[in-house]
Amino acid sequence: GVTDTTELLLSRIRDVADHPEPGVVFKDITPLLADPVAFAALTDALAEIAGRTGATKIVGLEARGFILGAPVALRAGLGFIPVRKAGKLPGATLAQSYDLEYGSAEIEVHAEDLSAADRVLVVDDVLATGGTAEASVQLIRRAGAEVVGVAVLMELGFLGGRARLEPALAGAPLEALLQI
Ligand code: PRP
Repeated sequence: GVTDTTELLLSRIRDVADHPEPGVVFKDITPLLADPVAFAALTDALAEIAGRTGATKIVGLEARGFILGAPVALRAGLGFIPVRKAGKLPGATLAQSYDLEYGSAEIEVHAEDLSAADRVLVVDDVLATGGTAEASVQLIRRAGAEVVGVAVLMELGFLGGRARLEPALAGAPLEALLQI
C-alpha cells in the first residue's frame, strides 16, 4: 500500500550532514537507486501520477530528474524529454533563466521536442525553493505545450517551494511522494 511505499522510500534516503555546505542536511537518493525494489516502487508511483494526469510526455530535470524520469517514461509508455543546464543541448533551444539565492541559473530544452499537442508531466527528485521547477514550467509553456503537473520524490516544505511553484502551475497538481 501507499504507507508501505512511503516507508520503503524514506528508509532508502540518506541524510548527509553539512553537504554541500555547513548546516545543510543533504537528502541523498543513491541508496534508493541502488535498491531495485525501492527504485521500482518509486518508478511505479511516479508512473501512476503520469497516468492519472493524462501526461503524453515526461520532462526530466538535469541531473537527478533524468535518473527518475527516464524509467517513469518507459513504464508509462511515454517519450522522455531532457531539460538541461544551459549549453549542453546541441540543437535549437528555448532557454529560461531563474533567480537563485545568489545569482541566477539557466535551463534549456530542444524547441522541436515539444508542441501544442503535448501534455507534460515534469519529474524531479527534490522540490526545494521551487526555482528549477517553476522555470521548467515556464519553459514548457513557452514551447507551446501544456503542463499537467509536477511530480517529485521529496518536497522540502520548509523552503517554500510549493508557494513559489503553484502560481506558475495554474491549477495543475504538484505531487510529492514524501514531505520532509
Ligand atoms: C537540485 C534538485 C532539483 C533542484 C531543486 O538539482 O535535483 O533539480 O536542485 O532545487 P530548487 O527547488 O531550489 O530549484 P541541482 O541543481 O543540485 O542539480 P543536479 O541534479 O544536477 O545535481
